[in-house]
Amino acid sequence: MLLAIALVLCPTAANSCNTVANGRHLVSFPANLAPPGQEYPAMVSIRVFNGPNLNLLGQREPAQYGQRSLQEIMQELLQFAVACGVELDHMQTNSEGEMVDAIQQAGKDEVDYIIINPAGYTHTSVAMRDALLAVGIPFVEVHLSAVSSREPFRQVTYFSDIAIGVISGFHGESYLLALQAILNRIEP
Ligand code: DQA
Repeated sequence: MLLAIALVLCPTAANSCNTVANGRHLVSFPANLAPPGQEYPAMVSIRVFNGPNLNLLGQREPAQYGQRSLQEIMQELLQFAVACGVELDHMQTNSEGEMVDAIQQAGKDEVDYIIINPAGYTHTSVAMRDALLAVGIPFVEVHLSAVSSREPFRQVTYFSDIAIGVISGFHGESYLLALQAILNRIEP
C-alpha cells in the first residue's frame, strides 16, 4: 500500500527546516525554500521504498536494526520532510514483483528522488536494479545495519554503483541522513 501525503508549503516551514522535527537528531543544511512572500520552487517529491521484513523492525534483531518500528521511523522522516517543505511518501512490501511495480509507478508519477532500503533484495535483485535504471530517478540506498561489516554476502549490493550514495549503519537515522543528503542537492 502506498501512503501518500501531499504537503502544503507554508511560510513558517523555512524556519523549522533548520532543526529536525523531534530535536533529537542532527540537522543543519541550507533550507531549500524561498523566504516568505517570495516564489517557492516547485515542490520536490521523494518516495521511500522499504523491502522485505522491514515491517518487523522493532522486534527483528534489534542489535542490528534498532528498537524502533518502521512506522515510528517513517513518522519521524515525514515530520522532517514536512518541516523542510518537501513531499514524501513511503511504502513497504515483502514482494519483489510489487517493488518492481512500485518503482515503475514512481517513474510514471515523475517522482524526483527515491530513498530505498531493498533489504534482503539488496544482495540478489537484478529485477529491482533494472527497474531503477529504467525509471532513471536518482536514489539513495539506505540500510539500518552496517552491511559492509557483516557477512560476505551482505557486502555485495546490486544497487550501490548506480545510487547517488549509500547510507548504512545508523539504524532508523539512516533514513534522515538520506533525506538530508537529497535536500542538500536541491537548489534553493
Ligand atoms: C538491511 C540489510 C540487509 O542485509 C537485510 O537483509 C535487511 C535489512 C538493513 O537495513 O540493514 O533486511 O537492508
